[in-house]
Amino acid sequence: MAIVSSHHLQPADQPPEKASPEKASKTAKSTEPLLQGTTLDTEEQGSQEETLRPQSMDEYIGQKDLKDVLSIAIQAAQSRGECLDHLLFYGPPGLGKTTISQILAQAMGVKLHLTSAPALSSPKDIAGLLVNIKPGDLLFIDEIHRLPRVSEEILYPAMEDFRLDITIGKGRSARITSIALPRFTLVGATTKIGALTSPLRDRFGLVQRLRFYELDELEAIVTRTARLLEIAIEPMGANELARRSRGTPRIANRLLRRVRDYAQVKAEGTITQTVAAKALELFNVDPMGLDWTDRKLLQTLIENYGGGPVGLDTLAAATGEDSQTLEEVYEPYLLQIGYLQRTPRGRMATASAYQHLGYQALQIPSEQLPLDMR
Ligand SMILES: Nc1ncnc2c1ncn2[C@@H]1O[C@H](COP(=O)(O)OP(=O)(O)OP(=O)(O)O)[C@@H](O)[C@H]1O
Ligand SMILES: [Mg+2]
Repeated sequence: MAIVSSHHLQPADQPPEKASPEKASKTAKSTEPLLQGTTLDTEEQGSQEETLRPQSMDEYIGQKDLKDVLSIAIQAAQSRGECLDHLLFYGPPGLGKTTISQILAQAMGVKLHLTSAPALSSPKDIAGLLVNIKPGDLLFIDEIHRLPRVSEEILYPAMEDFRLDITIGKGRSARITSIALPRFTLVGATTKIGALTSPLRDRFGLVQRLRFYELDELEAIVTRTARLLEIAIEPMGANELARRSRGTPRIANRLLRRVRDYAQVKAEGTITQTVAAKALELFNVDPMGLDWTDRKLLQTLIENYGGGPVGLDTLAAATGEDSQTLEEVYEPYLLQIGYLQRTPRGRMATASAYQHLGYQALQIPSEQLPLDMR
């Protein structure tokens, strides 16, 4: 016996107030980007995000396993007088991939060259970067899964043999010249490890996943940011913000800035639990940190498809998002909190999702369930 979806839906007797289905459907979509882990505005991409970035391992909150692995790698490399092995960081946006790479460069005392795969569309771009590298430097390539095949192929000998192969001339007179490169460390970051080709993935010595942050870690991040931005916040205010931040530091920092505005206008500047809760309700961020798109996605699954399984494209059409955004930005958190399940035949809403949105989850005899849910 398991609790799952039903085609005959009845809202629960007392649906949770802020997350009822009616409310979700009425809620405007306008505030939705507030909860995306991706950077949204120039304020964030620019100086604001930079000032908030932790500068050292000690300041970098959480991700204990990752920090342990990196600290050992740094010590070992330094004691041998070598540079670090190539590193690949993966995980949803806003969890601290760029930040940890900057800390790494600082810890190794080397220069960090920051770039992003979309800026490396032609082999010339990547060759230009490689010839400017000094011994031991870190080359950081963001969104590395988007690297075009031709650029990727330049990286293979560069990563393996520290050699840049350039083709000179065309047709029958074309020949390949090799240039020796200094030893360097390639740091790749991606939100989508599955989209990396295996020859590229296999060339990274360390592949590390960044995980969503725990509540206490997010509280510490909110408190730290509040201190840096000189915002008055009570511990329970930080707790409320942390609970609605989808396990993501970038979202926690963004919500803090919005709540600060509210506190200044409505509550004499101090962020208490009530102030945080009221402000976030106003911004349509529900108690679990879900926004319009999350709720719409789950609601579509429940109301139109009896809880699923439903293909990603159908959900994309219902929410007006492209399937890539749903997969990379929305789904990871819904999977993490156990509201969504991925099965070979599509996505399914779980009993917790029914409960959160105020639907009654009906008990279905297990023999009526799809095989993969029994
Ligand atoms: N461990 C942490 N402790 C404190 N703050 C953090 C931590 N990780 C990230 N942050 C904050 O979150 C912001 C976003 O982090 P960062 O830019 O490193 O994320 P990212 O994983 O590179 O995101 P993207 O996938 O969009 O490139 C940083 O500006 C920083 O202030
Ligand atoms: Mg980044």
